[in-house]
Amino acid sequence: MEHNLPVNVREYQELAKKALPKMHYDNINGGAEDEYTLRENIAAYGRIMLRPRVLVDVSKIDMSTSLLGYNMPSPIIVAPTGPHKLANPEGEVATARAAAACNTIMVLSFGSSCKIEEVAASCDAIRFFQLYMYKRRDVSATLVRRAESLGFKAIVLTVDMPVLGRREADIRNKMVCPPSPNLEGLMPFDDDLGTGGGSKLERFASETLDPSLSWKDVEWLKSITSYLPILLKGIVTAEDARKAVEAGVAGVVVSNHGGRQLDYAPPTISVLEEVVKAVAGAVPVLVDGGVRRGTDVFKALALGAKAVMVRPDHCRANSCSGRWKILICLTALQVGRPVFYGLAARGEAGARHVIEMLNKELELAMALCGCRSIAEITRRHVLTEGDRIR
Ligand code: FNR
Repeated sequence: MEHNLPVNVREYQELAKKALPKMHYDNINGGAEDEYTLRENIAAYGRIMLRPRVLVDVSKIDMSTSLLGYNMPSPIIVAPTGPHKLANPEGEVATARAAAACNTIMVLSFGSSCKIEEVAASCDAIRFFQLYMYKRRDVSATLVRRAESLGFKAIVLTVDMPVLGRREADIRNKMVCPPSPNLEGLMPFDDDLGTGGGSKLERFASETLDPSLSWKDVEWLKSITSYLPILLKGIVTAEDARKAVEAGVAGVVVSNHGGRQLDYAPPTISVLEEVVKAVAGAVPVLVDGGVRRGTDVFKALALGAKAVMVRPDHCRANSCSGRWKILICLTALQVGRPVFYGLAARGEAGARHVIEMLNKELELAMALCGCRSIAEITRRHVLTEGDRIR
């Protein structure tokens, strides 16, 4: 039995900082340019207050929900971040086991340091695969086919990275990072790790990522995926959310890449309502960036709850008849760095503990706000700076 386990995500972050070489910690923790978006992702949650309702019997709290038809014990899932061997020699296999132990979904990054096949074989779980669009479309197509045949349940196309953001810590540290084994045999890559100015990531990104990425490619991706749903990760405006729905995707992820791409992009929690409104219940909305507490998860769920007119086609599924209905439009929250911190500090056990802690914190926030189920969390449980108490 270990004593003195960290009691929150911030303590895990401290341990991770001690455990990791500076270059790796800076890469995981850092953001783009002035790191305004990175800081604001977290700070914006701090400006939202809770409006607890009391005298509700909270002896039973049910956090369960579902995403794309998969039931989950809580809305917290694991964001695609890579490569996990920077944090622990077991890499994504450890994270996959931690997520499976919590019965939650892990989104595996294309850039995982364990091969996608190895992660798939490590344990039974529902997993999604995150993809970038490569200049060489055959590489993207091959990765999609591998994910399909290995039982991944969705493709998450990251759309906020046509080119790499300017991560100054990586440039300063001349960040080097082994190429992902997923690309072995698919494209030539040199694994000469220590040369050149700037960061190795920059060179890799400029050689491989396709800056011509556009809505056409979403069509293309749909055409090569026989049955997997496609989610778009990196949507922060109502305009793009509407286009995503029109393009026929199965979900959108409100994300600014954890503040690692466009600095001064809005903190995700500040645009969540705008996106939820634009999507109007057509597809699930997910969000990531800055979640460090169960209360953050609660705040996002409250801002993601929306009254929508349920249309006849929806009605059949929900057995109701054309009425206004509160839909939980925000169905899942992805956590990125917190899981990485857990992994760096204590391997698989740490990653699992981080997810468990966030779940426990969410349960507590729900109890203290008088919400017994996710459906009971409403917009009126939070107060943002823009709100006036009604
Ligand atoms: C990321 N992120 C990311 N996103 C993606 O689509 N593909 C990827 O390979 C990666 N890799 C990656 C590595 C590291 C070290 C970090 C910190 C982030 C972004 C990630 O999916 C997510 O959007 C953010 O991490 C969410 O913010 P928080 O939870 O870290 O604050």
